[in-house]
Amino acid sequence: MKPMISPSILSADFAHLAKDVEMLNRSEADWVHIDIMDGVFVPNISFGFPVLKYVAKLSEKPLDVHLMIVQPEKFIQEVKALGAHVMTVHYEACPHLHRVVQQIREAGMQPAVTINPATPVAMLQDIIRDVYMVLIMSVNPGFGGQKFIEHSVEKVRELRALIERTGSKALIEVDGGVNVETGARLVAAGADILVAGNAVFAAEDPEGMIRRLKEL
Ligand code: DX5
Ligand code: ZN
Repeated sequence: MKPMISPSILSADFAHLAKDVEMLNRSEADWVHIDIMDGVFVPNISFGFPVLKYVAKLSEKPLDVHLMIVQPEKFIQEVKALGAHVMTVHYEACPHLHRVVQQIREAGMQPAVTINPATPVAMLQDIIRDVYMVLIMSVNPGFGGQKFIEHSVEKVRELRALIERTGSKALIEVDGGVNVETGARLVAAGADILVAGNAVFAAEDPEGMIRRLKEL
């Protein structure tokens, strides 16, 4: 099965964001990955809703919104207003994850949960049937262009096994350090969607790179 590709605009040229979003519109990308940070849950800040409003207006692709913030439930209506397809929250940021997942669904979006590199896949056992997607972080969240953490391939295999065992229909997405080489191994392990920031936007031919990743 060919993977879906969700390029991360964290690595785009923020001074010419429209140009990069238009490139994604022309490309074979399936979604656009949007990383929202708060400087608290992660040691960095990216962009907020006033900027994303314009990205949403320009994008012809579904938005895949990844919130790296504490109390993400406070922003469900803002994410909804962007017209997001998927809203992903961190397991580590939600003591009442089940409630947050229901709230995202009630708002009319697809709920997804993500785990940091140090969080075991087993922690998802009691939420796996309720989510549309699980995102495996293959770097510590907060920055683009980091080195892929090898153990993530094993986590994708474990997650695939958990999904099969529980009869869940959850999709598997992976985020961080994804390129042609790591991407091929992730797809072989069972990944459905690859997020790619640096691999796409630092490439000489970003559209060509998206095409190559889709062929994995
Ligand atoms: C990291 C973000 C990623 C980031 C990935 O905190 O969640 O989505 O943009 O960038 P690359 O693909 O460059 O590792
Ligand atoms: Zn992300």
